[in-house]
Amino acid sequence: MEKLAIKGGSPVRKEKIYYGKQWIDEDDIEAVESVLRSDYLTCGPKVEELERMLEEFTGAKHAVAVANGTAALHCACIAAGIRSGDEVITTPLTFAASANCALYCGARPVFADIDPKTYNIDPDSIRNHITARTKAVIAVDFTGQAVEIEKIKAICKEYNLVFIEDAAHAIATKYKGQQIGALADMTTFSFHPVKTITGGEGGAILTNDDDLYMKLNLAHAHGITREEPLMEDLPHEGPWYYEQILLGYNYRITDFQAALIMSQLKKIDKFVARRKEIVTKYNQEFSKIPEIIMQNEIPESDTCRHLYIIRLDFDKLNCTRREFFDAMSAENVQCQIHYIPVYWFPYYQHIGYEKGICPNAEEVYKGILSIPLYPKMTDQDVNDVICAVRKIVDYYKK
Ligand SMILES: Cc1ncc(COP(=O)(O)O)c(C=O)c1O
Repeated sequence: MEKLAIKGGSPVRKEKIYYGKQWIDEDDIEAVESVLRSDYLTCGPKVEELERMLEEFTGAKHAVAVANGTAALHCACIAAGIRSGDEVITTPLTFAASANCALYCGARPVFADIDPKTYNIDPDSIRNHITARTKAVIAVDFTGQAVEIEKIKAICKEYNLVFIEDAAHAIATKYKGQQIGALADMTTFSFHPVKTITGGEGGAILTNDDDLYMKLNLAHAHGITREEPLMEDLPHEGPWYYEQILLGYNYRITDFQAALIMSQLKKIDKFVARRKEIVTKYNQEFSKIPEIIMQNEIPESDTCRHLYIIRLDFDKLNCTRREFFDAMSAENVQCQIHYIPVYWFPYYQHIGYEKGICPNAEEVYKGILSIPLYPKMTDQDVNDVICAVRKIVDYYKK
């Protein structure tokens, strides 16, 4: 049996590979540079251009570009009218922002459990957690796979809830042939560097609803308007006049970030194709390993995977997840864990959440490991990752 690097053997690779990474070319740099040489660094034409481009890409009627995916979720909650006393149902297997955005508005996040096969929020569990206080559902397209949109939409319609789709992982995923972005009441994106396209930071909210669009525009820019139909004190004094009509934030994105996102969006087909190629190869190889439990996909989702997760079956392995994770690092394959259940964090524990409330999410969490997935990976990188996983499984298998 091959000796693991952590036990003194030679590593599968010489250089470390990370779980995610951006792909920046000269055209991206030129796009940013040209904005830096222009008159507008913020509040300029590139932000609006990006919004129109996102509308065209997703088929949504309106897009609002913002500073990051967290700001996008916060604005969506404000536009949904979420406030103190309300409850918002979301998943625990997500980045904290998907739940924090409800807390920002004074509401209480309520955690529905996941489907243990797809790792996405389970629509039946959503239904079981609805109360008279429930105002919205924030469903996360975890790893890029679309949630069960039709079922969640039907529940939201039945109980008059706002459906917010956190698609931070899922730009370019299609549900029943339609791009993610125009299917929920509001859909949010993140353009963090590990995501499918990046602006360094950046985010967006998409909606087909004119009223939500108006509120999103206000929420991300101090609650200030220059539109006369929205003003109270008319006629006004002159062209400098504006009104603040609600309490908003400065969640603006800069023009040079918008230019970078547009430059990346032009190349999204290439990024998606390569991500899919790598996922196909991983699926082929890992489905042959009985110690690995595969993530199921619903047939409705044509997924552009942001994350590739292997779930280790510790009934069949003589090691802990920590030992597996450390062994991968020693082979120079740096993994991550997505995610620690949100309500396990001390902050959530201190405000009254108990462990054990979502048993499926907690069970899945114990076995998962995110391995490298990004379009710039070479075939050699992909093979190295597969070799490292095989080597460690072979070493520890019972
Ligand atoms: C599911 C999910 N929602 C929201 C966010 C927040 O996005 P951002 O980092 O752009 O604020 C992230 C970020 O990783 C995420 O993974």
